Amino acid sequence: FVVAFQGDYVWLDLKTGREFVVPVGAVVKLCDSGQIQVLDDEGREHWILPQNATNIKPMHPTSIHGVEDMIRLGDLNEAGILRNLLIRYNECVIYTYTGSILVAVNPYQLLPIYTPDHIRLYTNKKIGEMPPHIFAIADNCYFNMQRNNKDQCCIISGESGAGKTESTKLILQFLAAISGQHSWIEQQVLEANPILEAFGNAKTIRNDNSSRFGKYIDIHFNKRGAIEGAKIEQYLLEKSRVCRQAADERNYHIFYCMLRGMSPELKKKLGLGLATDYPYLTMGNCTKCDSRDDLKEYSSILSAMKVLMFTETENWEISKLLAAILHMGKLRYEARCYDNLDACVVVRSPDLSTAASLMEVDIKDVMSCLTTRTLITRGENVSTPLSMEQGLDVRDAFVKGIYGRLFVWIVDKINAAIFRPPSCESKIIRRSIGLLDIFGFENFIVNSFEQLCINFANENLQQFFVRHVFKLEQEEYNLEDINWQHIEFTDNQDALDMIGNKPMNIISLIDEESKFPKGTESTMLYKLNSQHKLNTNYHPPKNTYETQFGIQHFAGVVHYETRGFLEKNRDSLHTDIIQLVHSSKNKFIKQIFQADVTMGMETRKRSPTLSSQFKLSLELLMRTLNVCQPFFVRCIKPNELKKPMLFDRELCVRQLRYSGMMETIRIRRAGYPIRYTFGEFVDRYRVLMPGVKPANRQDDLRGTCQKIVEAVLGRDDDWEIGKTKIFLKDHHDMQLEIDRDKTITDKAILIQKAVRGMKERTNFLRMRRSVTLIQKMWRGYRCRKDYSAMRVGFLRLQALYRARKLFVTYQLARTCVTQIQARCRGFMVRRSFWRQLHAVITIQAYARGMIARRVTQRLRAEHRRRQKAEGQRLVEEERLRNQMTVRRARAEAERSHKERLAELTRQEEEREMEAREEARRKKEMVEQVERERQQPVDHSDMVDQMFGFLGNTGALPNLEGQGPAGFEDLEVALRAEEEEDLDEALPLPDDEKEDLSEYKFSKFATMYFQGTTTHKYVRRPLKQPLLFHEDEGDQLAALAVWITVLRFMGDLPEPKYHTAISDGSEKIPVMTKIYETLSKRTYKRELQELQTVEGENSSNDGGGGQKKNSVRHKLVSLTLKRKSKITEEVTRRLMDGDYSLQGNSMLEDRPTSNLEKLHFIIGNGILRKRPGPNPCTCHLPSRLMQLSVDSPLVP
Ligand SMILES: Nc1ncnc2c1ncn2[C@@H]1O[C@H](COP(=O)(O)OP(=O)(O)OP(=O)(O)O)[C@@H](O)[C@H]1O
Ligand SMILES: [Mg+2]
Repeated sequence: FVVAFQGDYVWLDLKTGREFVVPVGAVVKLCDSGQIQVLDDEGREHWILPQNATNIKPMHPTSIHGVEDMIRLGDLNEAGILRNLLIRYNECVIYTYTGSILVAVNPYQLLPIYTPDHIRLYTNKKIGEMPPHIFAIADNCYFNMQRNNKDQCCIISGESGAGKTESTKLILQFLAAISGQHSWIEQQVLEANPILEAFGNAKTIRNDNSSRFGKYIDIHFNKRGAIEGAKIEQYLLEKSRVCRQAADERNYHIFYCMLRGMSPELKKKLGLGLATDYPYLTMGNCTKCDSRDDLKEYSSILSAMKVLMFTETENWEISKLLAAILHMGKLRYEARCYDNLDACVVVRSPDLSTAASLMEVDIKDVMSCLTTRTLITRGENVSTPLSMEQGLDVRDAFVKGIYGRLFVWIVDKINAAIFRPPSCESKIIRRSIGLLDIFGFENFIVNSFEQLCINFANENLQQFFVRHVFKLEQEEYNLEDINWQHIEFTDNQDALDMIGNKPMNIISLIDEESKFPKGTESTMLYKLNSQHKLNTNYHPPKNTYETQFGIQHFAGVVHYETRGFLEKNRDSLHTDIIQLVHSSKNKFIKQIFQADVTMGMETRKRSPTLSSQFKLSLELLMRTLNVCQPFFVRCIKPNELKKPMLFDRELCVRQLRYSGMMETIRIRRAGYPIRYTFGEFVDRYRVLMPGVKPANRQDDLRGTCQKIVEAVLGRDDDWEIGKTKIFLKDHHDMQLEIDRDKTITDKAILIQKAVRGMKERTNFLRMRRSVTLIQKMWRGYRCRKDYSAMRVGFLRLQALYRARKLFVTYQLARTCVTQIQARCRGFMVRRSFWRQLHAVITIQAYARGMIARRVTQRLRAEHRRRQKAEGQRLVEEERLRNQMTVRRARAEAERSHKERLAELTRQEEEREMEAREEARRKKEMVEQVERERQQPVDHSDMVDQMFGFLGNTGALPNLEGQGPAGFEDLEVALRAEEEEDLDEALPLPDDEKEDLSEYKFSKFATMYFQGTTTHKYVRRPLKQPLLFHEDEGDQLAALAVWITVLRFMGDLPEPKYHTAISDGSEKIPVMTKIYETLSKRTYKRELQELQTVEGENSSNDGGGGQKKNSVRHKLVSLTLKRKSKITEEVTRRLMDGDYSLQGNSMLEDRPTSNLEKLHFIIGNGILRKRPGPNPCTCHLPSRLMQLSVDSPLVP
């Protein structure tokens, strides 16, 4: 029962029952109510039910992350090894040790681990000092050879495509690199490979460059360690491939390379075409191999041949034979029947003739040789026809014979170039390193004679390996002084004996049957059965019809199909073919068939069988290996797809099993598989005994180890303690591990408890601190908020209270004031009323009096006139009495009197009318005066009225104008002056005459005026101000005042454009404008600019332009002008520069009214605040001064 925790690693046995399935590593994901969820190495998830708990086993810690040497694995079994390889392969680490074996997993990609740097890194290092590497094996071979003065060998095995040949080449390269000579012979040894591969390698479904032969390269080194030569041994070339290839496979590379690379002329000579033309090359339906470049290979083959001293002729002869083989493959047979016998003929064709001519044999001989067979019966040669199948077989046998012998010849040729026989005289024995690149154990669906040979070789190698491993074990036990006598191990000696060692072994029986003329496969099988049926390693056929027998090999049972066994074993060519070759004029073909020819000719002995040849060479090999110190490289193919990073578990398990690596493990298991150095042991297991110090602080490590192991395992158990290591059985390790795990778990829980407690406490304290801080801040914040609200409330309250108090006081005061006002007003109204009343009464009294008096006067005058009229009547009556009667006189007098009275009445009425008219007129006058008084005063008109005579309206100076009343005299003066030269100073009246003597102006002028300026008025703009001013603003202001004065006086023309700017400014009181003028700021910089422009203008008269305009604008803004009021037209015209004024004016952009000029003059000239005497005032001509002083405008 396993207690699993999350994250634990376990072995998961899925119990599929399949042959190559082993437990897979997995990690526990979840442990939930008895069920366990695990994730295996393949990424699959599994739920383990409680009843299946036995499916999982705990994983030894060494298996979790992988180890470099798999011997150190706690779980030393197939699953452990497989997982270790998998973990490393997934990290692109392809090499791993298992004791002395190097396991190499084919990466199927170029890894950057074979650089010159790596060669340097691995040179002269012990195994284990650096991570596992093929270079480490090569390096140890080399240095062991030198140190121990002993031959070394390296046995590289593995399935097809596992990387044997690549590993062999890597070792060769390493050896060539570190032997450090770079000699010609070294180059030749290296160049042997391309030739061997061209003739002996082919594309198969497992490997694009599969070696179809075994080889052993023995590299010879001289005493200085330099490569001196080499010898290549080849085994069992797969000849059948020349005639037949399985689907998707190719013939030997050389054919395709030749057809691609040979020049067209040579090809023509050989009658060759394309690869697709030849049945021998197209059987597998594959003439191209993606990973190979036949064209390039061909040139490298040729160059390698040159290096290895193949002559041109030899080369050509080889090509001829290869071409002949291809042509032979194209021969067509036709079946015939002679005398009831199956026969055949070869159809005459260009191929036949070319083949015959290439082999330099007679075409007829070829035909008969391929269709008939000569038998010697009772000393007579009898020729029998062959059936078509037999004929084809003969042809194929001939072709295979040619190719096989050609290959042997090539290997011999190479050996001739690179092999130097040891000289007998020299005492120094040379040393060698042998590299065996041989097919591994094979177990196909159908296994034939070749597999028997291969597996026999592997069986031998396995035994060699097992013995070596056990020897190593023994050495270790001996070194550690441990009794190993009781350790038993089984090797495969029995199987070996049965196959090839003991009398009547399987191979000798096959051989015998091959030589026996009447021998067949069934007689052979019968003999095998009868001889070996009792042997446990032999599996006889289940019934008499079966043609298979089985052998229990070290890696499993292999069943061999006996059909074709004998023929394959015989491997001989019919005498007719030998004869044909003998008849050839071609020396080369004769040479490669030499052995057969001589044998056939001389002794008529049969050539040795394949098995005997193979056995012989194998024995030789084993003898060589036995005197060597061996190294083993086991190549593993991770997948059948030739893809990188793909790991097929079952495929790998099969290879591990066949590799024989498990033997190492079995041997270990037989002894003490677990071993620790004392230091390691103490450090790992001291937890089991409280108070044991770490290994580096221990004096007696061995004693401590013993104490621990006795305490845990007991004194009597089967563990051993050596000199430096402690040796344990598997179950000891298990027990130790479980105890250790338990103790560590207890301690871990304790530590966890404490740490968690501490963590929680720190966390709690931190949180509490934070909470207090937050509370503090919050409370502070809330109080502050409440306080501020309250404060605002109190402030409001105060304000309200104060407002209320003030309001009451105010109300009180107001009431008092109102009352006082009311009383005062009442008093005042009453007083004024009384006064008015009094006045009215007085006026009334006087008026009435006056009226009454007037009435009285009128009445009196009336009375007097009536009295006078009465008097006149009386006088007239008197006068008339003299002339007429009294009565008539009286009447006449009465009538005249009445007339006079009427006249008087009419006069009276007239007077009355006049008086009334007078009253009405007066009343009207009063009303008009009243109306006028109501209307606003227009100062501008007034000034214009006053100074209009100066010609203010015209653009030109001195236009005629009507002088206002009181200024008529000025007009006369002006008119008189018109005739005078304008340049001449205006003759002004003398100061004395003008009565301005109190200013003493002339005296002041002579004293203070700058330059030659006199006190006299000049009608020109000034070049400099009259007085000295420090401030430039003042200087400019003075000049501007002068210009304005000239304009005012009509001595300087107004600007041309008469664009009336009426903005109602006239309505603004004069003084307001004046003070506005004064308050305008003059900027020094602007004024300076102005001055410079002024200077320029005065120097080049009439010149101007943009610059002048811009200055003008500035001036405008500095003076009274309201820039904003200038209409667009004015602005445009100003920009045009069409301007008649000679610069130097602050009022040049538009004509100004006299009032405006006056404003400017008064503002800048009189009122401008300056310390000391106002300098601008001096610019005012005395006349103007007088005018302005007298003017009603100036307050
Ligand atoms: N160390 C390696 N690095 C990169 N690729 C490799 C390595 N070893 C083998 N391979 C690849 O695997 C292929 C097969 O290797 P190799 O020819 O050595 O196999 P083999 O064991 O000799 O097979 P066979 O028994 O068929 O001759 C090579 O062509 C190469 O692509
Ligand atoms: Mg190979």
